[in-house]
Amino acid sequence: AAQTVLKKAVELAPDSWIPGGKPDPLIHHRHGHVGKPVSRIDGPLKVQGKATFAAEFTLEGMAYAAVAFGTVPKGRIATLDTTRAEAAPGVILVMTYRNAPRMHPMPLFLTGEKAAGGDNLPIMQDDRIHWNGQPIAVVLAETQEQADHAKSLIRVTYEVETATTAFAEAKAQGTEPGLFMGHPLEVEIGDAEAALAKAAVKVDVGYRTPRHNHNAIEPHAATLAWDGDNLMIHDASQAVGHTAWSLAKVFGINERQVHVTSPYVGGGFGSKTLWQHQVLAAAASKLAGRPVRIALSREGVYRMVGGRTLTEQRVAIGAKADGRFEAIIHTGTVAMTRHNALPEPFILPARSAYAAESFKLDVEVAYLDMLANTFMRAPGEAVGTFGLECAVDELAVALGMDPVELRILNEPDKDPTEGTPFSARHIVEAWRAGAERFGWANRNPTPGAVRDGEWLVGMGCATATYPYYRMPGGAARITLTQDGRARVEIAAHEMGMGTATAQTQVTAERLGLELDQVTFAYGDSWQPGVVLAGGSQQTAAIGAAVIAAQHALVTELLKLAGNDSPLAGLKADEVGGFAGGLAKLDDLSRHESYASILARVQRHEVVVEASAPLPLETQHWSMHSYGAMFCEVRVNTITGETRVSRFLGSFDCGRILNAKTAASQLRGGIIMGLGLALMEETQFDERKGRIMNPSLAEYHVPVHLDVPAIEVIWTDIPDPHTPMGARGIGEIGITGTGAAVANAIYNATGKRIRDLPITLDKLM
Ligand code: MOS
Repeated sequence: AAQTVLKKAVELAPDSWIPGGKPDPLIHHRHGHVGKPVSRIDGPLKVQGKATFAAEFTLEGMAYAAVAFGTVPKGRIATLDTTRAEAAPGVILVMTYRNAPRMHPMPLFLTGEKAAGGDNLPIMQDDRIHWNGQPIAVVLAETQEQADHAKSLIRVTYEVETATTAFAEAKAQGTEPGLFMGHPLEVEIGDAEAALAKAAVKVDVGYRTPRHNHNAIEPHAATLAWDGDNLMIHDASQAVGHTAWSLAKVFGINERQVHVTSPYVGGGFGSKTLWQHQVLAAAASKLAGRPVRIALSREGVYRMVGGRTLTEQRVAIGAKADGRFEAIIHTGTVAMTRHNALPEPFILPARSAYAAESFKLDVEVAYLDMLANTFMRAPGEAVGTFGLECAVDELAVALGMDPVELRILNEPDKDPTEGTPFSARHIVEAWRAGAERFGWANRNPTPGAVRDGEWLVGMGCATATYPYYRMPGGAARITLTQDGRARVEIAAHEMGMGTATAQTQVTAERLGLELDQVTFAYGDSWQPGVVLAGGSQQTAAIGAAVIAAQHALVTELLKLAGNDSPLAGLKADEVGGFAGGLAKLDDLSRHESYASILARVQRHEVVVEASAPLPLETQHWSMHSYGAMFCEVRVNTITGETRVSRFLGSFDCGRILNAKTAASQLRGGIIMGLGLALMEETQFDERKGRIMNPSLAEYHVPVHLDVPAIEVIWTDIPDPHTPMGARGIGEIGITGTGAAVANAIYNATGKRIRDLPITLDKLM
């Protein structure tokens, strides 16, 4: 009979990853699964159309939803006429603030361990309008086309109130210090302004980055149904556990009454959390007594799902004549709403990228009436490294130094603002290897000196960096069966990045099994753990949980093995998974297979469940992933257009778990960074607070012809203070990329563009 052994979190020494204070044996892996370029196990399903995404579940009696969006930034609904919509063919109901069920606001993301809401405004509870694009009605109909048509028949008028929709006006009304996860985005060490004033060489410049919107290949969608007070929702989510808990709060029910599944996600990047569409669909479903599918249009994503806010940054660096930094100042202002918890924390990279004697870092917030901001790949670092790393390049020019050498010269020996040691930092190796591979030595440092016909050619570089996080809440269940197979369950997510594949490798390695003997099951809020696929931390969170569960499994199996086993008398921390069973770590001849252990005690299976230890490692160490980015551009002297001709990312992200999926993750981040550098810009009408380009026709992202061959290399040096020796790779690729492109453009043309995106008009 199956037996679940529930364990408390295993207490680990802060510098070790198995109980007993030893390094994680996976750092010295035996079976060769870890690091292999294994192709994605979900790949064949996806190319055959057999992977069911959120908007592809079909439920009996399902109705289709369409959302009508408001068109003023602030005020109240004066008149709202839904009669023609209600009479339209196929319409089941029209939900507005007049008939929507009573609901609580969404728990605002970052305000609690399981809060997932993009904003905490009332959802269709009154006639108030808070942003231009806010949902004002939901139509349910028998087909999507009928719902969309009926939506067009709704007539609304507003009593408009004065709104703050211009950034300059918002700043003039006064800014407030930005808070990130409860902490002020402020660092002050020494007197940086005084040090800057006295510095032998300095730069002091301003940079701007625009608003960005989310454009995951799969627009946000959900298919859901109520069964009494129980809600089943097939979502596109990077936070199934958080979403279940948060939806339960909205509807005043128990967390276990909400069942969220999300087996496949067509990209998240920070946007696939809880927004009003899931709530509205669930409310309409309750009202209609029918299952509902809601699939946002591309425009719908722009109206309802937040993006990255704009930033205005000042970066000042003061240096001695030899190039050593004395002062780093990185300050500025971002736009935010009052119903939101994410200022773009662009100062994060400056906290630990370089040694300096004094620091002044500060993010200020100006409040606008607009859609809430949210996480978008490397929130903070993606645009913060643009300012910081362009400024370092500008300083290198002022010093007459090579920008690679300037960075290496200012390499800190411990965290310069926290004072903690680095867990593992091999960024100098990354710089050296990248420079060698890219042919940096061939760069002509004189701007505008290299010409190829009508093209100017230049090279630039920048530091990439992203913190290592591991959020609490990781837990895993392992079911081991007598046929020697293991099933691991954890409420984690596969958004296309290779989680399922890499975690199958990790689990197989740890248990000593073949890849086809392991099933990694994920994407279901009823599974153990509350794991966010965000902050580039999911792999570490899963890894820590799997380590804890495997320890519980070993403990249980040793008990079952008894005195007749070659393992008799051994303790759990002396034993590891090896060749289909357990073996003594320093004497592999003392081995017994799982099948043999279970057969002797006539057990069909063993089930264990355990929680990951608290993430104490980040209290002891300064932990980050690192990279050195190299870019070659060609800028057309007649049209001003920029073509990225070569790009290389040289990374130091600890152990690489799967060489193929990791390269794709890092390359994908770089591609998104090319968009940030050259194309992406939300056009926000400052008079009306409305996004003007809510489509891929007018909001440009890189397409194949914009993307050169991108080479990705890495140090593969395990970090001894993380589970499996790995650090995050999901977000770092977008960091540094914007600056590497801008710095290459400067080298090509002599033009310093400090305002993203670097469109052709700025180079004419
Ligand atoms: Mo990432 S922006 O934390 O999904």
